[in-house]
This record gives sequence, C-alpha cells and structure tokens, in this order.
Amino acid sequence: MIDLRSDTVTTPTDGMRHAMMDAEVGDDVFCEDPTVNELEDKVSELFGIEAGLFVPSGTMGNQISIKILTEPGDEILIEKKGHIFNYEGGAASFISSVQLQTLAGHRGKLTAEMLHDRIRGKFMWEPNTRVIAVENSTNKGGGACYTKSELEELRAFADDHGLKIHLDGARLWNAIAATNIDPAFFGKVADTISVCFSKGLGAPVGSMVLSSGENIRRARRFRKMLGGGMRQVGMLAAAANYAIDHHWSKLEDDHRRAKELAELINACSKLQIDTESVETNIVIFVLMEEKAESALKKLEERGVRMVPFGPQTIRATFHYQVTDEDLEHVIRVMKGLFN
Ligand SMILES: Cc1ncc(COP(=O)(O)O)c(C=O)c1O
Repeated sequence: MIDLRSDTVTTPTDGMRHAMMDAEVGDDVFCEDPTVNELEDKVSELFGIEAGLFVPSGTMGNQISIKILTEPGDEILIEKKGHIFNYEGGAASFISSVQLQTLAGHRGKLTAEMLHDRIRGKFMWEPNTRVIAVENSTNKGGGACYTKSELEELRAFADDHGLKIHLDGARLWNAIAATNIDPAFFGKVADTISVCFSKGLGAPVGSMVLSSGENIRRARRFRKMLGGGMRQVGMLAAAANYAIDHHWSKLEDDHRRAKELAELINACSKLQIDTESVETNIVIFVLMEEKAESALKKLEERGVRMVPFGPQTIRATFHYQVTDEDLEHVIRVMKGLFN
C-alpha cells in the first residue's frame, strides 16, 4: 500500500531505531536528560532563538505557545484554514480561555494588509487582540509557504500594534527546504515557534516550542501542568535529532514528487488542480465528476491511499517513505482512473 494520507505515517528506520537505542538518557523533568538538552540547544540555535522545550506533539507546542503569549479573554488573529482553529479540538478556548478571530486569506496565509481594521481592545467591551498566529508551510492551505517579505510585513505590523506572533511550524522544515530562507530568520519574526519532528522529518513523536528564555521557563511549567513532562525521553529526542540530520535533506525529493503528481493530475480530464499551488509536499486536487469518497475507494483498491479534503476534494501528502517507484505506480493508477 502506498500511503499518501499524511506525512505523519512514516515509521522509524533501522538507523533511527539504533540512534534511539544508543541515546544517553536522564530524568527530563529534572532537566537531566543530556540528549533532550542537546536537542533543545541545537534547534534553538538553528532558529536563532534563545531557548527550546521538547514537547510530545505539535498541538501541545501550539497550545503552550498560546498560553505563554496570552491572558484569558484575549484574541488571536488566524487564517480560517489554520490548524489551531480547525484541528486542535478547541484547545485555545479550553486551555487559555482565548478566542480566535478567523480571517479569509489565500491558501492559509495572512497578510499584514488584511489585519488593519481587525485589531480590537480599544473599548473595554471588546476582546484584546494579542497574537497573530501564522502557519508555515500551511496544511489545509495546501503546503503554501510565506515569503520573507510577507513575514517581515507581519512582524512590522505586529510591532506597530503591540502584538505577538506565533508561528505554527509543524512543517517549517518543508518551508525552509522550498524557499531556502535561513532558519535563523524565523527566530527574528516570531515570538514563539512550534516545530514538529514527526511530520515530514519522520520521527515517531516530538515537537519543540522555541522562544525567549523567560517564555520557555513558563512553558516548562505549563508543559508539566498539561501532563507533558516526560522522564527518560532522550530516546525520542535522539529520533528527532536523527531526523534532522538524515531526513531534512530528503524533503526536496518529496516536493519534486508532489510537483510531478500535480502535473499528471493537471493532464487528467476528470481532475482539476492549480499546479502552481504545489510548493512543498502537499497536493490538493478536485474531482470534476465524482465524490471524493468513491474515488478514494477506487484508489485504495489499487494500492494507493489519500484523504478526503472536501466533498470532491482530495489531499495527497508526500514523505520520504514514498519512493520514485511508488510515484510511478500512483501515476499509472491515476491515469487509469481519471484520464
Ligand atoms: C500545521 C500543523 N500544526 C500542528 C499540527 C499538530 O501536530 P500533532 O499531530 O503532533 O499534535 C499538525 C498536525 O498535522 C499540523 O499539520
């Protein structure tokens, strides 16, 4: 079965398992796990930001970031396709007692221009707008990446209006591979970043919150409160470290394969896609005649799995365990079904 449902379906390789087995460990709640400490130093340095905190999931990374940037009753500006708005179970209201103001951008991205008359808090009956939440690359937005200048404009806007920026960087690794932006740039434009090791990088578990030393001290407390304080977790940090060293460089191949699939889809009469929209590892396309459910069933019967993204929309996501031979098979199947 060729599994294009998500880049979270990868399984640890032998090399990664060996790195996990060999990891030096200690009690990370006491900050005594050397492998975790090394990873936190390495990733925070990479992103040009003071400190990092290893957390179990991207959701926890986003939610701890929101918690440290807001007070109850505050408001967050977010594009309406944002993961924090759609796929985290309403956690921002549950954990931080904040509300989300959603805006309709393009492919999951916000622009500084869109935010101009959206800031509230002038009157005491309004919520206090406190944070701009951006996602890079976008998930529901189809893998779109922010340009440097788009982010610089958002930073300038945030500074002018006393706002903070949270960057959901679950796939920031992909965005960097696609745009060649220096990772340290992101530490300059965002107050908090959450990066994931368990998406395209292929680690089984793990994310990291990045921010100032003071914010990370507070984040450590919230992580404990949420039950995310783990003990000899160096084994997982070793997998994350291995993923950065050995799998990050493979993302460009995922992006090339996604583009190849998009071109095939573009040539199929029963499918529609904007090939220019495929910037990273995510391919979102529309069925002209058929419902997603029945098309997915036919694909699965032929050894290909994807996910529905609307009544007639499908998403395919590439990861390093999908090979060029797998792509050839997918292309043959898609031609047979939708040409
Ligand atoms: C953009 C984005 N942010 C956050 C997450 C949450 O990550 P996790 O599943 O590790 O909680 C995901 C998960 O796919 C995601 O796509």
